[in-house]
Amino acid sequence: MVSRRIASMKPSVTKAMSSLASEYKRMGLDYYSLHAGQPGFPPAKEAVEYVARRLMEDYDRSLFAYTPSEGLLSLREAIADDLEELGRPRPDPYRGIVVTSGGMEAVFSVISALTEPGDPVGVVIPAYFQYFNILSFLSVRIIKYNTYPSLVVGEDGWHYLFSNSKVVLISNPDNPTSRTLDWDEARLLADLACDYRTYLVHDIAYYTLYYEDGPTWPERYCWDYVTTVGSYSKDPGIPGWRLGYIAGPPDIVQDAKKVREIASYNPPTPSQILVEYYLKNKLRGKHLPSILREYARRRDALIKALKAHLPDVKFKVPKAGMFIYADFSSYITNGTSEDLAWLLAKQKRVFTVPGTVFGEGGEKHLRLSFSFEPPSRISHAVSRIRDALEAKT
Ligand SMILES: Cc1ncc(COP(=O)(O)O)c(C=O)c1O
Repeated sequence: MVSRRIASMKPSVTKAMSSLASEYKRMGLDYYSLHAGQPGFPPAKEAVEYVARRLMEDYDRSLFAYTPSEGLLSLREAIADDLEELGRPRPDPYRGIVVTSGGMEAVFSVISALTEPGDPVGVVIPAYFQYFNILSFLSVRIIKYNTYPSLVVGEDGWHYLFSNSKVVLISNPDNPTSRTLDWDEARLLADLACDYRTYLVHDIAYYTLYYEDGPTWPERYCWDYVTTVGSYSKDPGIPGWRLGYIAGPPDIVQDAKKVREIASYNPPTPSQILVEYYLKNKLRGKHLPSILREYARRRDALIKALKAHLPDVKFKVPKAGMFIYADFSSYITNGTSEDLAWLLAKQKRVFTVPGTVFGEGGEKHLRLSFSFEPPSRISHAVSRIRDALEAKT
């Protein structure tokens, strides 16, 4: 490896699992996808038809063209309106929003804009595994607050993170735990951000996928120090079309724009057109409720199957998101969650994500996604996990 910086980045277990899944697919073998945060449904047909019409009937040149690197203004206006409707203070569509090629690019660009190498950046452990790669690539110092075994952060935890960091990066709803901030906690985070002058990066990739309650906004109480990063991968469900955004204080957003521009100049144009249509025509209201009902059914099927087949697995019922983060310590007696995840993938063709990829402490946990497979296959996958564990002992 030529670059030391790249050498420090860990090869991704999830990518290796996805490669195995593609091999199974090529071989015509069935497998169970409980690993990826992959939407279970395509985006609203009306929005896809709109893009298709503009492409095929109008042969519209603008769909192939560059857009401004901050994204189309009409889309930025639609994003500002949408965030306001969801309860966030309206960001300035001119200088306070930048559209990105996915949520990860948004996180990367904001952290780049807010830090120098060596700066302390706080994360709650377990944390979304991509955060570690971004933070180590940027050579910042990672300040960790470990929440095992309760997975609760609590006031002390937040105080620790905000008082010791220049930037705190959170996902809400969380990946992998699906934990959500309530309004008191959102207020606390905002107060800590403003009091300590610590920047909060609020990653809301799952913010419309609530089964109970709804999104909360630290942005309401501390405008200058909170930046929102969002993704359109989960809703409207276009992960392969790469679209996300940054919304927040204009000075931060404009610096982040310089970063995002370096890698890909502008976010994909057809994706921008699709999301603008989706937002402006309020398609979420028509499209998402039935998907949420189905995701809740899938979540409940996973819970039921875990209780029936693996009664000693411990987990919290998620109010939002796509995942159950399950404690398998009663079943993982030798080896780690990574060993178990590989065993399940290879022997039972059930894909899961080992807790080890989310930071120290995840050795006995697996993240199980309920968004992709229908309820009957979820139950079957869990019974296959039970069979593998029984055969192991
Ligand atoms: C917490 C969190 N943030 C951001 C993202 C980024 O998504 P994307 O880059 O696909 O927009 C994901 C994707 O799974 C995620 O789980």
